[in-house]
Amino acid sequence: MELSGKRIVLGVTGGIAAYKAAELVRLLGKQGAEVQVAMTEGATHFVTATTFQALSGRPVYLDQWDARMPNAMAHIDLSRSADLILVAPASADFLARVVHGLADDLLATMVLARDCPLLVAPAMNRQMWENPATQRNIAQLQADGVQILGPACGEQACGEVGAGRMLEAEEIVEEAIAFFAPKVLTGKKVLITAGPTFEAIDPVRGITNLSSGRMGYAVARAARQAGAQVTLISGPVGLAAPQGVDRVNVRSALDMHAEVMVRAAAADVFIGVAAVADYRVANAADHKLKKDTGGIPPIELVENPDILAEVAAMAGGPFCVGFAAESRNLEEYAQSKRRKKNIPLIAGNLIQDGFGGDDNRLVLFDEAGVHPLTPAPKSVLARQLIEHIAHLTGSH
Ligand code: C5P
Repeated sequence: MELSGKRIVLGVTGGIAAYKAAELVRLLGKQGAEVQVAMTEGATHFVTATTFQALSGRPVYLDQWDARMPNAMAHIDLSRSADLILVAPASADFLARVVHGLADDLLATMVLARDCPLLVAPAMNRQMWENPATQRNIAQLQADGVQILGPACGEQACGEVGAGRMLEAEEIVEEAIAFFAPKVLTGKKVLITAGPTFEAIDPVRGITNLSSGRMGYAVARAARQAGAQVTLISGPVGLAAPQGVDRVNVRSALDMHAEVMVRAAAADVFIGVAAVADYRVANAADHKLKKDTGGIPPIELVENPDILAEVAAMAGGPFCVGFAAESRNLEEYAQSKRRKKNIPLIAGNLIQDGFGGDDNRLVLFDEAGVHPLTPAPKSVLARQLIEHIAHLTGSH
């Protein structure tokens, strides 16, 4: 659980996206957060307090005249004990009130009285979002240190299409986790490869492998949460791009190589997690191979470029990290790969421990020796790997 022990005040304001806040409470709770919901009067027209009470397991605060607080100072008590105030959805009206320091309802008063950070996820009609008044307010909030999450573009409840949709609950949870993560790679540019590659035999067939991309995606997510600017060059996988990560989709090792090489010089760290095919088909057919044309079609293989070794050989290139997936002799193979590719750090795992699943067992090999990590979900291991990289690069 990535938000264990965090106390989050979730402010819900009036807007149709308030229904998504119910799922948000559930997901924050699932990550271990203690969620205290406070609603504006407007929000109660869209979702009832009962829904939030049931999902958060706590009574919902609705107005400043609530008699439950022993000293009648709900705005102070609630916001002082919180690690974070998150307002989702944040209406145009609510944002305007925060900009002006109004304290005309409980939530606005809590925001004004807070001594913890404030994250807001705006949700409104696209024209309200684009209105210069809203844009002025957003700029002022940013200048005041408020973090703005989204909004996303897309179809709106009113039937219009544009910017103003609230981020999905899962995305807001990601942002909350990122907010609390130690910022050990702030300002660093991190380039990551992930997933398998697909080497075409003909237009419909090819050579690939069972890499799910989960480890690489977890590393990308952890790097971004650590404050890095992350580009993920991804082979064909069925995973959504991690929030805040710039993803470039590729298919073959040659495509992956090209996309990495144009970005590698500008990167501070390169992490090759992809299971890149060692060989590609030299004589890939332009049309589908037919069975009844006599004989078994010959498939000629040629070697693919070693992307990681090439980046590691660049003068003044990024700090390079490799992965070694082995079926046996992990330490011996991983260390010899590390030396052969001339990289400072390699993360090894046995294929039977990690391929395709959510958990993995990783061992880090560097100049100093061997660092086995406790078996854990890939998200946890990815964070430990990022911390190790930050340590070795002196970023932290
Ligand atoms: O050489 P081997 O595939 O065993 O090494 C694995 C490491 O090298 C991984 O980090 C992988 O992403 C990288 N690699 C690469 N390009 C290749 C082959 C492997 O970047 N053609």
